[in-house]
Amino acid sequence: MSDLYTKTFGTDPAATEKAPARANLLGEHTDYNDGFVLPTPLPYFTTVSVGPGKPGEVEAFAAQFNETLTRRLDAPAHGDWLDYVLGCVRVVQQQRVPVEGLRVAIESDVPMGAGISSSAALEVATLRALRRWLELSIDDEMLARMGQRAESGYVGMPCGIMDQMVSSVGRPGAALFLDTRSSDYEHVPLPRSHELAVVHSGVSHKLTDGGYRQRRTECEQAAAALNVASLRELDVGDLPAIEALPEPLNRRARHVITENRRVLDGVQALRAGDAQAFGRLMVESHRSQRDDYAVSVPEVDALVESALQRGALGARLTGGGFGGCIIALVSDAKAWWPAVQADHPNAWLVYPR
Ligand code: GLA
Repeated sequence: MSDLYTKTFGTDPAATEKAPARANLLGEHTDYNDGFVLPTPLPYFTTVSVGPGKPGEVEAFAAQFNETLTRRLDAPAHGDWLDYVLGCVRVVQQQRVPVEGLRVAIESDVPMGAGISSSAALEVATLRALRRWLELSIDDEMLARMGQRAESGYVGMPCGIMDQMVSSVGRPGAALFLDTRSSDYEHVPLPRSHELAVVHSGVSHKLTDGGYRQRRTECEQAAAALNVASLRELDVGDLPAIEALPEPLNRRARHVITENRRVLDGVQALRAGDAQAFGRLMVESHRSQRDDYAVSVPEVDALVESALQRGALGARLTGGGFGGCIIALVSDAKAWWPAVQADHPNAWLVYPR
């Protein structure tokens, strides 16, 4: 039961489900290159309630914006939050499941635009609610794929599978070591000796802005020039051939290949309980994102530097980039944060709360 739905529409919902946000520890911009990723769910949730509505229409209320939007089910994307919900409905309809019309109520404590994937949380929660209501026989992995399809096919953001997968199958307290080529995954426990901290730089990002799409295209061009189906086919042994590519394809490919390697090494470090080694990999990952992949911004670079100076074992940009959040590995987040905040008054601590 959702009080919000009942209050909004004066009747009980048919189903209510929630899904978490995420942070990525290592493996950035590797998922659309068939590579490895290592995200973890964060305890921030979006809750979606659904029930029947006027035929041919979706009427949705989002408590976060105190806004109700109504739209025809066959309408094109509008560039607002309802797109994510309607995209999920459309993907369900593509499975030949009739959805006549619906009402939706959304509650969320996931900060928007922070780079912790408010969008995947909304998609996975919506699809879970639709699955329960319509008794769809889809497993969690398939559900994640449907969420990705909603975002790339309807919303228009050509994302990989990482965010939807970790929101759908991730476990609290563990990193999801996912091979996006085979879809094999494993839950790797996070170090108990240290904590993760997620800090927003104060610079908002918007992934639909084009930089993300451009990086994807550059990776495809690099793979084509090297005669492979995707950059995943290459390893650090192929770096000489990669260095010979024209700028900036050489640097883009080098990031992806070395980042895949860092995920594998990072999983080893987690298994060995070696937080120091994991922290070093995070630092290398940030440099690679900054210098080779060019997805960082000066404010984020400065935040990573002070995170390290103030005692973090590792720190890096997390998520799609061009602003957003850093993730740091620290021994005590609450003790570490005030000094970082003093250096960066515009930054704010997203996690832990
Ligand atoms: C966004 C996308 C993901 C992934 C990351 C970068 O979060 O949704 O699929 O590509 O950027 O690692």
